[in-house]
Amino acid sequence: MSDYVFRFGGEGGEGVISTGDLFTTACARSGLEIYTFRSYPAEIKGGHAMIQVRVADRNVLLSRGDEIDVLIAFNKEAYDRHCKEIKKGGVLLFDNTDFLPDETSPMIKYPVPFTKIAMEEVGVRLTKNMVALGAISELFGVPQDKFKELIRDKFGKKGEAVLQKNIQALEAGARYVAQNIKKSESIRVAPTGRQPKLILSGNEALSLGAIAAGLKVYAGYPITPASSILEFLAKELPKTGGVVIQTEDEIAALGVVLGASFAGKKAMTATAGPGFSLMVELLGLAAMAELPAVIVDAQRAGPSTGMPTKMEQSDLMMAIHAGHGEAPRVVLGLTSVEDCFYGIIRAFNIAETFQTPVIVLSDQGLAQREASILKPETSDIEILERRKPNTDQLADYQRFRITPDFISPMSVPGMPDGFYSATGIEHTENGELNYEPANHNKMTAKRAKKLEGVLKLPWIVRTYGAPNPEIALIGWGSEEGVVRESVEQATAAGLKVGALHPKILWPFPAEIINNYLSNGIRRVIVPELNYSGQFAALLKQHLKRTDIEVISMAKGGGIPWKPGEIVTQIKEVLKIHA
Ligand code: COA
Repeated sequence: MSDYVFRFGGEGGEGVISTGDLFTTACARSGLEIYTFRSYPAEIKGGHAMIQVRVADRNVLLSRGDEIDVLIAFNKEAYDRHCKEIKKGGVLLFDNTDFLPDETSPMIKYPVPFTKIAMEEVGVRLTKNMVALGAISELFGVPQDKFKELIRDKFGKKGEAVLQKNIQALEAGARYVAQNIKKSESIRVAPTGRQPKLILSGNEALSLGAIAAGLKVYAGYPITPASSILEFLAKELPKTGGVVIQTEDEIAALGVVLGASFAGKKAMTATAGPGFSLMVELLGLAAMAELPAVIVDAQRAGPSTGMPTKMEQSDLMMAIHAGHGEAPRVVLGLTSVEDCFYGIIRAFNIAETFQTPVIVLSDQGLAQREASILKPETSDIEILERRKPNTDQLADYQRFRITPDFISPMSVPGMPDGFYSATGIEHTENGELNYEPANHNKMTAKRAKKLEGVLKLPWIVRTYGAPNPEIALIGWGSEEGVVRESVEQATAAGLKVGALHPKILWPFPAEIINNYLSNGIRRVIVPELNYSGQFAALLKQHLKRTDIEVISMAKGGGIPWKPGEIVTQIKEVLKIHA
């Protein structure tokens, strides 16, 4: 079975990301599985850009993988940064116009003068990335025709001259390798003959899921890494009768969403941490007026502008707690590209069923990651709608009526006898303003208690690995795949490891987690991507047993955990406690 990690590195602006993207799509169209990770600077030009593509003929790829099989270095910085991660017997394909690697370094070296060929044979320096792709096609078996097809798609719109120069560069790179390089390893990513799957980024899958859920109004303000949701929906949502509004800021975006929701439409906004902090004012209104709303936070490293193009899972506490007064909300963590599709549908279902804001946590890594997924079966997906008042209820309509499950039938403007005022001010069951302490306590309890039903949903957590593990892993959000792969690796190494992955993060699924840990598990490792170990802290607050040790495995900085790193941590913990 083939399973390889290709990493492309070079200067931002010289087309590193495009090279990785074309390679990814060519492999996926050849029937291979793909999983990408990209990290690039916030500037349009300059700084270091890298894209990693894991490509395999196994069924599902869960993480970006461990060591590098092939490093494609466009400059010395890329070599210096990444060469230590090349595995034994791995390959360095590099631009020897730019630099020469250390002679003693152990990897297999394929020098190809990308820049020289681009300048002398093609006459356009920018095409050096296509020279590199040509070299890759010759060395590793990706058919040139696949690349040509994709180059046409990508650069065709830039004009015939640009297109031809790029094809010329691709052919020149392949020719150079055929004439000058002797292949001395067996890495091949040739077509499998299998039917290609869908290739989607996290943000694309999320946008398609939102449309499948019945999204009718999207409002947003551009911000990395959420902007591609706005761009995608601006093209696609109107085709399904929906509307996209680019607002003047994030406060207005949530305002539009709440207005649309009041009017009976499914509505969503997406942002990143700084935009979410602006939305918090109106989050209070959503909770008080009990308006369904889906708010996506594609997290990035903060605070402030921070590292806007790097991933982090550091908005968890803000998503759970931000707000004035007591404003109940539901927080979900998306776990994979496929889960971006299904998870956002679940978010809409919860928002509509429980008439609540739902905050959906994605992150830069997941939002911009591409993965091959099976075409979603929309006929199997249950789409839920909000509870509407029947004729009897309308005869004596009380918008905030306290019902056995604390969820009240919600009318829409124009419904005969369904008139009510949806304000941010405290109100009685029929929506009239009221400042009495007893009423405030009663209505606060209503708003909190209606969310108890969320924790009865059947899909709140997923578990993996040994049923009675010696040690458990509990990650959250986009770390699911890497945790799952580390469980597989640890199990293969003979360790008794299990994992639980919560999909609903708030209300905190304390009972389910405590039940999972009740069969003697004494140690829990929590891998997450923030400095302070936010989920680990939350977990500690909710553990019933005091003899469970929570080991926080937290790091910020924008680079996800590797499965091997988690396995090392498991072994370390088991050794310490042996
Ligand atoms: N022929 C013609 N054009 C080519 C080419 C070729 N052979 N190779 C690349 N290009 C073009 C690409 O199409 C792209 O143009 P586009 O912007 O019109 O799409 C451009 O050159 C850059 O190439 P790309 O491969 O996409 O990126 P890169 O690896 O050079 O890195 C980025 C550049 C991605 C780092 C940078 O452009 C960027 O987007 N930075 C982040 C900005 C941001 O989000 N900041 C945060 C603000 S808060």
